[in-house]
Amino acid sequence: MRLEQIRAYLGEDWTRTVEQMNTALSSDIDLLNGINDSISANSGKQLRPLLSVLIGRCCGAGPLGPDSYRCAAAAELLHNATLLHDDVADSSDRRRGRPTLSSLMGSNVSVLVGDYWLVKAVECVLNTECFSEKIIRGFARTLALLAEGEMLQLEKAAKGDTTEEDYYRIIYNKTASLFESTALTAAYAVHAEESLCEAVASYAVNLGIAFQIKDDIFDYTPGAQIGKPVGADILERKITLPLLGALSNVDAARQKEIREAVTSIQDAPEGRDMIVEFVRENGGIEYAQRKLREYATKAIEAIEALPQSREKEYLVELAGFVGDRNS
Ligand code: IPE
Ligand code: IPE
Ligand code: MG
Ligand code: MG
Repeated sequence: MRLEQIRAYLGEDWTRTVEQMNTALSSDIDLLNGINDSISANSGKQLRPLLSVLIGRCCGAGPLGPDSYRCAAAAELLHNATLLHDDVADSSDRRRGRPTLSSLMGSNVSVLVGDYWLVKAVECVLNTECFSEKIIRGFARTLALLAEGEMLQLEKAAKGDTTEEDYYRIIYNKTASLFESTALTAAYAVHAEESLCEAVASYAVNLGIAFQIKDDIFDYTPGAQIGKPVGADILERKITLPLLGALSNVDAARQKEIREAVTSIQDAPEGRDMIVEFVRENGGIEYAQRKLREYATKAIEAIEALPQSREKEYLVELAGFVGDRNS
């Protein structure tokens, strides 16, 4: 499945969503406008607004209105803000096949531009006519979860004691919670009934978890052309699902040895290749792939009761896409 196909199918709804993002970002500061334009010109998959528009069309009775475009735009603006901040937090030098803003212009610029995108996302939500405390509280919750997820990840990286339960909490917070609020705001914007809101929220959480597991598998795939560095997670001492899966297949002494190698990786970065090999030899990739499929299946099951439509078929296909994607 190709995402362009879905965008083409969404037609005017997609065009209006992109217009909404561009309008929201416009500033009279040339430096800021120039940076915003170059980020927008090299957008990523734009999965979150795609999800938002599909969900709005699945859950609503009539055609979408401006509130749906505002909510879809807010999801992508917020996502980009988190990437601008994340590349600083992770000291990452590549994103979407290009040097990161932080590597080109400094972390101060990346943080400030990220703040701008974040506030513009909040403004899109505040401008909705259907604006309710429920929507803004949902977004506020996501913002807190994102920051908490990144902080928990740092805490666990320093201690080297990440469990599978910690891992799922981290990825729910930093990735799936935004998928969840994307789905919920899209459903609220079309005044969907409660059972539909719950169904699409559950779909989105499971999809988001599967999506981040795939991202973490990519990091163990040497040569993967994903537009950002691979093999970076271990260097940042992040213990993700492929490594946890491999650890679950060895005895306690070996587990201790590997965890210690990860914790001290900054003193001995040459240990990275050994850890990647350990993960491959001990079934870590297969373990993570199995879990990914379980979450993708749960996502599909969550929307079984939704009425049949082309939009619903695309949502089901997206759950397959997260596992098969190559970027
Ligand atoms: C990257 O998200 C960050 C994660 C949550 C893994 P995407 O893979 O959706 O990034 P873009 O927007 O397509 O570049
Ligand atoms: C997801 O974590 C980042 C955010 C939700 C901001 P990662 O650190 O794994 O994302 P990438 O790999 O840098 O895109
Ligand atoms: Mg990162
Ligand atoms: Mg990653």
